[in-house]
Amino acid sequence: MKYLIRKGRLVDPAGGIGGVMDILLEDGRVAVIGSDLCDPSAQVIDAAGLTVCAGLVDMHVHLREPGFEYKETIATGAQAAAAGGFTSIACMPNTKPVIDCPEGVAFVKERAAQATGAQVFPIAAVSKGQLGQEVNDYEALKEAGAVALSDDGVPVQNANLLRDAMILAHRQGLAILSHCEDADMVQNFAVNEGRVSRQLRIPGRPAIAEELQVMREAMLAEETGAAVHICHISTAKSVSIVRRYKKKGVRITCETCPQYFTFTEEEVLNQGSLARVNPPLRTSADVEGIIEGLKDGTIDAIATDHAPHAAEEKSRPLTQAPSGMIGLETSLAASLTALYHTGEMSLSDVLRKMTVNPAGILRLPNKGRLAVGADADLVLFDPNEEWVVDPEGFRSMARNTPFAGKTLKGRVKYTILGGEIIYQEQ
Ligand code: DOR
Ligand code: ZN
Ligand code: ZN
Repeated sequence: MKYLIRKGRLVDPAGGIGGVMDILLEDGRVAVIGSDLCDPSAQVIDAAGLTVCAGLVDMHVHLREPGFEYKETIATGAQAAAAGGFTSIACMPNTKPVIDCPEGVAFVKERAAQATGAQVFPIAAVSKGQLGQEVNDYEALKEAGAVALSDDGVPVQNANLLRDAMILAHRQGLAILSHCEDADMVQNFAVNEGRVSRQLRIPGRPAIAEELQVMREAMLAEETGAAVHICHISTAKSVSIVRRYKKKGVRITCETCPQYFTFTEEEVLNQGSLARVNPPLRTSADVEGIIEGLKDGTIDAIATDHAPHAAEEKSRPLTQAPSGMIGLETSLAASLTALYHTGEMSLSDVLRKMTVNPAGILRLPNKGRLAVGADADLVLFDPNEEWVVDPEGFRSMARNTPFAGKTLKGRVKYTILGGEIIYQEQ
């Protein structure tokens, strides 16, 4: 199908085309961008009043297949992504079995090929079984289609293994995506160590547990020359460590997620297990530090860390429920609400962190930019439409979002992948 998208407001943080324009999509690519285009053989999409941007890229999601299909499958996750405006998502390997061999990567790719939503890019594990003892064969994993390496969910505790992994990953041109938390310090604790943990009289996960490992990762990146990416950065001090090492020219990048610039640890008092996530929601000073890091470019990307869990699991008491929250279907609106509609950031700067930057970190060619010749991956959204989050309407199998019942501003209307509509608002 050939589409002519008419009179949308183009935002391309990468290339700088802007303003109200028409776009012709043909053979899976952006064929023409211009004013008053006409093509009688194309189907017209009226985009007046809508923002048109490259399809969103989420570099950090959990799709739970194989092994935990009762939480989410690759197919449902890819559809949830499409509904959220995402055309490319990278999925974490903490499945059962762990994706640590070429056959595992091939399995994810096979399931992804059958899915009708966003394009799925597999991330493979840093260590065998994510046990932190033995590195995997990164050359074979890359050959099979892995786009990055991560033990997310089970942070790497062995600095020597991480150092070896960085050297080997560097040779393959693969980034390591690191969940930074010292396991001994955080154990299986449920919330940030601070006011709320004291009030609830439970042990907490201290900020220093994250910051120590962010510092470790930064120093190892400096020493090895390898690229390291910090997942879901959540404290102000973590941001300042990354800022300092970036200034030195070290190849360190980082992401945060909407929950870390929207909520504080206090949310646990309102929402209990639904507000449980690793790393935990922090303090208002941390939220300020995160927003500062987004504004000055220290934080490169906004990811979701979409972490689906079953309703029964999340209904357990705070200390027994699994950590994580879903995010694919709220991320754009939550980011616009907290960062753009508050006047903190421009629309283009927010979108940069959801398109070209994550595509660049994962080295996904032709993704994250809206230019003639690029893949026809686009999102059309109304940045000003308000809606109340109702998880019952989600494509995801899971409902565990702390945004339920909240009013957000920004509504996805169409998501287009390779020139085909993969989501249209009903
Ligand atoms: O809260 C989290 N949930 N943090 C992680 O690192 C893993 C994730 C999950 O897999 O549920
Ligand atoms: Zn993580
Ligand atoms: Zn994660």
